[in-house]
Amino acid sequence: MISLKNINFFSTDAHILKNITFDIPAAKVTAIIGTSGSGKTTLLRIIAGLNEPTNGEIWINGQNLTALPKTDQQQIRSKMAIVFQHGALFDSLTAWENVAFPLYEQGAMLLSEVREEAEKLLEMVDLHGVAELSIDRCSGGMQMRIAIARALAYFPEIILYDEPTSGLDPIARGLICNLIQKQQVQQRITSVLVTHQLSMAFQISNHFIFLYEGEIIFEGTADELMVAKDPYIQRFIQPPSRAYRTTDLVHF
Ligand SMILES: Nc1ncnc2c1ncn2[C@@H]1O[C@H](COP(=O)(O)OP(=O)(O)OP(=O)(O)O)[C@@H](O)[C@H]1O
Ligand SMILES: [Mg+2]
Repeated sequence: MISLKNINFFSTDAHILKNITFDIPAAKVTAIIGTSGSGKTTLLRIIAGLNEPTNGEIWINGQNLTALPKTDQQQIRSKMAIVFQHGALFDSLTAWENVAFPLYEQGAMLLSEVREEAEKLLEMVDLHGVAELSIDRCSGGMQMRIAIARALAYFPEIILYDEPTSGLDPIARGLICNLIQKQQVQQRITSVLVTHQLSMAFQISNHFIFLYEGEIIFEGTADELMVAKDPYIQRFIQPPSRAYRTTDLVHF
């Protein structure tokens, strides 16, 4: 389990995360939701160790990372992988080379085994026969699945996803949702899903954190979120009113 205790993050001119305290349960999907600029990516980057909090504590499996030397922090975080928005793949490499990157980095495998393992990982995300494709020839949905395969190449216990379905069509979105759920159910991976797409979060998450201007304004289950009293949350979870459909306003 991951616990965040009183995390604050200040930039030079703004208080971006405010007293963030919550637990991320093991082997479940926790959704961090909120509108653009609410601090979701910043929070994910702090959990991943890519940003330092200004103050506060991060505990992973009973160890206070913030009290440990950097090398020990890295050792604990080696069980964690992050899937960046739009995949953040290496454009100049092929699909399999992107997935192989962490395998080379870990140096635990013979070079001759790396290609085979990378292809196995691509199969795990339901990509077949694409190993030699260059990234710019892959669709957005394929790129996201390659990015998930690359994350799996770290053999992680925890995967952090930043907006994994942004810019994807509904079919590709569904495939990504299924994959995230598959990792959680079959491999018991703890998942943290940052999104502003509530429908996706509802589909696969067990636990919800709602961020508003750097503060947690809700923590709980989907059922609790649906009946949350906060007027801002109510507006966020309401389906769009039919009165605002642009097609209703057009008269031919
Ligand atoms: N290192 C930084 N220095 C200064 N400001 C930052 C830094 N990181 C983030 N911010 C600011 O913090 C706020 C939160 O940004 P963040 O990217 O975490 O939001 P978000 O919820 O992920 O938004 P989106 O949904 O658009 O991705 C924004 O106002 C952003 O400009
Ligand atoms: Mg973001």
